Amino acid sequence: MKIAFFDSGLGGITVLNEAMKRMPGEDFVYLADTAHVPYGVRSKAEVLTFVKQSVDAIIQEDIKALVIACNTATSIAITELRRIHQIPIIGMEPAVKPAVEMNRSSGKRVLVFATQLTLQEAKYRELVSRIDDMGMVDSVPLPELVQFCENLMLDGPQIVDYFMTKLAPFDLSTFGTVVLGCTHYPFYRGILTQILPNHIQIVDGSKGTVNHLMQVLQDSDQLQGTGNGQVKWMCSSLDDAYIQKMAKALAFLQAI
Ligand code: SIN
Repeated sequence: MKIAFFDSGLGGITVLNEAMKRMPGEDFVYLADTAHVPYGVRSKAEVLTFVKQSVDAIIQEDIKALVIACNTATSIAITELRRIHQIPIIGMEPAVKPAVEMNRSSGKRVLVFATQLTLQEAKYRELVSRIDDMGMVDSVPLPELVQFCENLMLDGPQIVDYFMTKLAPFDLSTFGTVVLGCTHYPFYRGILTQILPNHIQIVDGSKGTVNHLMQVLQDSDQLQGTGNGQVKWMCSSLDDAYIQKMAKALAFLQAI
């Protein structure tokens, strides 16, 4: 049986890549909702409908667990998905908790990058109000970055200019950690490392999600290791060119 990953587009491949490194003996299936990407600028009702349709499709595959490898889809649909489906469903959470812990003693601030929809959802607001007792967390939506990523514009002067503009309002000397709260954003980890001051650490939620996934599989005795890291690529717009793009995006991550 395979482990399924779902995202609006290419972003979830950053989580798939982490899972493939940690579980080389598993096989995977990845579905991108290319007919509706990006999610982060849509209404909540639209995203809920699209996620439910996509999960109905991927659940037809022979799968033992499903990762909603998209922060926006997780914040809007995970409760409903777990109510409907019996299979273990693991979601994403912006890594605010580890980031706050990392900076508690230094008093440095935490800057969260995510989609507008993720930042405005109750799930995120509750997470921050539970953890950020010292008022250390700021956030900034980066909607255009999802589009850049979907066009495989993963570096170059336009991306650098984009980050410079978005970061201009912040005094970066006061920040200790940047949280990548959208699964598309880790594609830009390399470029961000060059742009941000050296003292700023960059964290994302993929390690935590994969830890959780492995624990769930282990608890149900399903961490089999009988596969060989194969990935079946699927996309909702049935677009062959996009299938090649997904394989290219994975190769990009595997090379860095
Ligand atoms: C998007 O489709 O806008 C990106 C969603 C996400 O990973 O949060």
